[in-house]
Formats: sequence, C-alpha cells, structure tokens
Amino acid sequence: MANPMVIAMDGPAGAGKSTVCKEVARRLNILFLDTGAMYRAATLGLVRDGIDLDNAEAVANDVRARRIDFAADGQVRLDGEELGERIRTPEITAEIYRVANNNDCRAYLVALQQNIVRGHDAALEGRDTTTVICPFAPLKVYLDASAEERARRRLTQWQGQGEAPPIEQIIADIKQRDERDTNRDVGGLRVTEDAMYIDTDSISSDEVIDMIVAEALKRCDHLRDHQ
Ligand code: DC
Repeated sequence: MANPMVIAMDGPAGAGKSTVCKEVARRLNILFLDTGAMYRAATLGLVRDGIDLDNAEAVANDVRARRIDFAADGQVRLDGEELGERIRTPEITAEIYRVANNNDCRAYLVALQQNIVRGHDAALEGRDTTTVICPFAPLKVYLDASAEERARRRLTQWQGQGEAPPIEQIIADIKQRDERDTNRDVGGLRVTEDAMYIDTDSISSDEVIDMIVAEALKRCDHLRDHQ
C-alpha cells in the first residue's frame, strides 16, 4: 500500500471530534480510533479494582497490566470484555484525569494506539493525536468551539436525562476541563502549526465533515479507491 493516510484530530472536549471523526472515517472507509475510549476503559478498570487513585504507581501498574483494544463493532474492550456505555458515566469521567495525568499510563496507551493505526489508513481523535500519537500524520485537524457554544450543545443533548444544571455551571466545568487538558505536561492540548484549524461555532458538523473529507481526498489519491 502507498503511505497510509492518517487523519489526526485534536481539540477541546465537546468540540464535536467524535461525531466528526467517526463520520469522516465512515465516508472514507478507513479505520476509526477513539483514543478517549481507551482512557475511559482504563479508568473503569481502576475503579473496579478499588485501586487507591491517589497512588500514581498503583494506578500505572493496574493500567499497564490491562489489555485494552476494540471489538470489530468498534466497542472498546478491557481484557476482552466489551464495555459499552459503562465508560461514559459521570463517575468515570470525573476520575479520568488519574490516568490522563499519569505519564506512565499515557506512555502505555500511546504505544497501544500507535500499534492499532500502524500500516492502516485511519482517522483518530483525542487530545494528543497530532502532537504525540501521530506527529507525522499527513492530515492534522484541530476542531475548536467556544466554551459557550460547547455548553449550548451539551444542554441540547441533555433532553430527557433529568434536570440540566444551569448553563453557567456547564461553562465553568468546560473551562476547568480545558485548563486541565491544556496544562498537562505530557500530551497537553495544543494547536500544531501544520494543523487545519476549524472553528465550529457557526458551521454545522456536516460542513466540517465535508471540509475534512475533501482535504483528505486532495492530499491522498489512493483513498478514492476505498470509496
Ligand atoms: O474524548 P473523551 O471525552 O472520551 O476523552 C476522555 C478523557 O480522556 C479526556 O478528558 C482527556 C483524556 N484523553 C487524553 O488525555 N488523551 C487522549 N488522546 C484522549 C482522551
């Protein structure tokens, strides 16, 4: 195969990376890798094992002993078990930083992620895809949106899930998470110079997807053969 086309997508939480990346991969018929799902699976494992989350060494040992991969249907697996939506509860989301801020855990997960995409045309999303996992990706995309717009989107998704918190609270939570994601020593959120920067505040996800698919096809002839 010609050089694989890797599309690496970064950006803050709630900018629409998952939706966009998954659809770009589907449209181009290439592998999709949700790196955040692996951080979530690792965190679920820690909580289940009752690991002392303040003990960085115990956290790293538990995570590094895990087999984390994906089933054919795209579900993340922990030691072979498909985890489904259990990785997306607020309890797990609140503890992910224990893994994300642990450099030994990051090194382990990055190596797994690099193995998954090696030799494949792939679209992957997550905070360090353009900087650490695939710094040589032929197409890097940074999807951005203001905290206010991301909070509005989150409120729309809230329908039917009980009483939503006030929008000011959601905005404050988003800003706090951005701060954590940006200020991490290793794998911190950062816009690389060569990334295609897309501010999604006033464009639809369909338009964003069209832009990225068009750019990928322009840069990589052999992707047309997949379609
Ligand atoms: O994309 P997500 O919300 O599922 O990611 C969950 C958390 O995992 C996110 O807050 C930060 C962390 N993460 C990371 O540190 N590096 C990645 N490549 C992906 C996710």
